[in-house]
This record gives sequence, structure tokens and C-alpha cells, in this order.
Amino acid sequence: MNVLIAFASKHGSTGEIARIIAQDLENAGLSVELREAGEVDAVDEFDAVILGSSIYVGQWQKDALTLIDRTEAQLRDRQVWLFSSGPVGADPFPAGEPPITSELIERTGANEHQSFTGKLDRATLGFGERLITGVTRAPEGDFRDWDAIRAWAAYIARTLKSDLATTR
Ligand SMILES: Cc1cc2nc3c(=O)[nH]c(=O)nc-3n(C[C@H](O)[C@H](O)[C@H](O)COP(=O)(O)O)c2cc1C
Repeated sequence: MNVLIAFASKHGSTGEIARIIAQDLENAGLSVELREAGEVDAVDEFDAVILGSSIYVGQWQKDALTLIDRTEAQLRDRQVWLFSSGPVGADPFPAGEPPITSELIERTGANEHQSFTGKLDRATLGFGERLITGVTRAPEGDFRDWDAIRAWAAYIARTLKSDLATTR
């Protein structure tokens, strides 16, 4: 069972989420490849794909979206899970699912989409980003919920391993 974990991360925090998911799946005995979304041309060598992106102004990163453009038909033939890293704050802001979620689930045939709280470090932001986060009063800090992330990874590992057991 080969699993691809592909991610698009502008300031690195989504990449760190992807890395933890990759480690946990590997520890569960799965064969895992971790790649930046922009470096993935095809997914046909994988049995399952986990694709994640940070959210900027309601949108997934371009690299994650163009990966779907390139591989949509292949994705629909495999087990796919999607995740976003975005809302920030103890009371996550903005609340609710990212607007693009249902379209992405439909296009990829994903089992589900999971939203994780992210990280905002104003010191790493460009001028425009600082302006937007200032106007929207986005809270600064690292709000990533590692327990929730690892619980999701464990659920995916269980699902893939039970698939494997039934196909043997
Ligand atoms: C300019 C800007 C716009 C953002 N817009 C959104 C948004 O619309 N929705 C959201 O949930 N998070 C938004 N965020 C929060 C980021 O998604 C969050 O900081 C994420 O963890 C960044 O991930 P990265 O380090 O992988 O790029 C925004 C952050 C910035 C800097």
C-alpha cells in the first residue's frame, strides 16, 4: 500500500502537519512518500493520496489546485483524503469549512475533507499579508492541534490497513 502525502504550504506550517501525518502512517506500517504538491506530476503509482493546503483568502494554494487539475482522473480512481490548514485562533477564525471544500471533494472523489487550525506568525508575512491579517484582526500564534491531526492520521491508517486486509 503506497501512500502519497502532497502539500502546499506558503510559510511552512502545513508542511509540518503533512510531515507528522507521514511519520504516523509510516509508523503504522504503510509505505509513504511526502512531496510538495508542485512536484507531483502523476499519482498513478500510489494506492492512496492525502492532499493538503493552507488557505489564503478563502482559497487553496495554487500548487494544490493545479495538482488536482493535472491528476483529477487518477485521483477519482484512488482513496483520497483532503485537508486544509487555515483558521487561526482559539475560537477558530474564520469559522466553518473553507468555501471551496465541496467542489474539491466532488472533483477528487475524496472520502472526506478535514480542516485543521493553523499558524500565523506576523514576522514571516509579506506586506500585503500583514495588511490583510491586520484588517481582519486575524489572531497570531500557533494553533495547530497535534492531537486532532494525529487522530486523523490514525483513522486513515486504520482505513487503509483494513482495505489491505480485505483485498488479500
Ligand atoms: C494573508 C492571509 C490570509 C489568510 N486567509 C485565510 C482564510 O481565508 N481562511 C483561513 O482559514 N485562514 C487564512 N489564513 C491563515 C492561514 O491559512 C494559516 O496561517 C496557515 O496555517 C498558513 O499555512 P502555511 O504556513 O502552510 O502557509 C490567512 C493567512 C494570511 C497570512
